[in-house]
Amino acid sequence: MDIAGIRKLNDWVQASDNIVFFGGAGVSTESGIPDFRSVDGLYHQQWKYPPEEILSHSFFERDPAEYYRFHREKLVIDGVEPNRAHRKLAELEEKGKLRAVITQNIDGLHQAAGSKKVLELHGSILRAYCSRCRRPYSQEVINHGEGVPRCSCGGVIRPDIVLYEEPLDQDIMEEAVRYIRNAEILIIGGTSLNVYPAAGLIRYYRGQKLVLVNLSETPYDSYADLVIHEKIGEVFSRIAV
Ligand code: APR
Repeated sequence: MDIAGIRKLNDWVQASDNIVFFGGAGVSTESGIPDFRSVDGLYHQQWKYPPEEILSHSFFERDPAEYYRFHREKLVIDGVEPNRAHRKLAELEEKGKLRAVITQNIDGLHQAAGSKKVLELHGSILRAYCSRCRRPYSQEVINHGEGVPRCSCGGVIRPDIVLYEEPLDQDIMEEAVRYIRNAEILIIGGTSLNVYPAAGLIRYYRGQKLVLVNLSETPYDSYADLVIHEKIGEVFSRIAV
């Protein structure tokens, strides 16, 4: 265990009231949700089509029935709970030390842990809407229904997530940039920093306390002021609040 790295992170956290967290699927693996690119991640699992193809706008339009088979089988994991990492972030916000969680995850676990300011760059499977008239729908119809859910207008109901080939919400992106640009400490956790434009956001950080807590190496390790290659739940459980 990287005791020295964790001690340094803890010292920085104790002395700050302006922390921003940027995270990915590795934050939720300790809740039982597989990430995408680890060896046992979603993108290495066998499916009829490559998962990254299924999670695209053109595939959803072409074969919504197959999309929904994948969605209900692989994206919806019932009974998952926030883990130590989610809870510690909510506690740090509660204590006025953390300003925002910026997440690429679509599982809603940060909010379930009590975090208030959560910027969901890729949306959430806990929200749905009609792709034709945009009428909002409960998540039940997409996550636990049968077949292709349809709106009363005839349109296909879809999850409120950003599929490949789709743009991110500009307002959310601009708010995320504001938080990162002004942060004293930017903690990045549980993300391979492979996917843009989300990964590009960290270039807006202007401080000298860029922390990377990730099991594997990322393209940004050399930019970080502190790198801890450990399980994020373990690391965060050692941060005092
Ligand atoms: N603690 C720390 N790091 C972890 C843990 C853990 N418990 N579990 C996994 N990791 C690390 C892995 O080593 C990996 O580098 O988390 C990272 C997860 O990376 P990805 O699987 O690529 O997930 P993510 O970075 O969130 O992917 C970004 O890609 O397909 C899109 O929209 C999808 O939001 C997703 C985006």
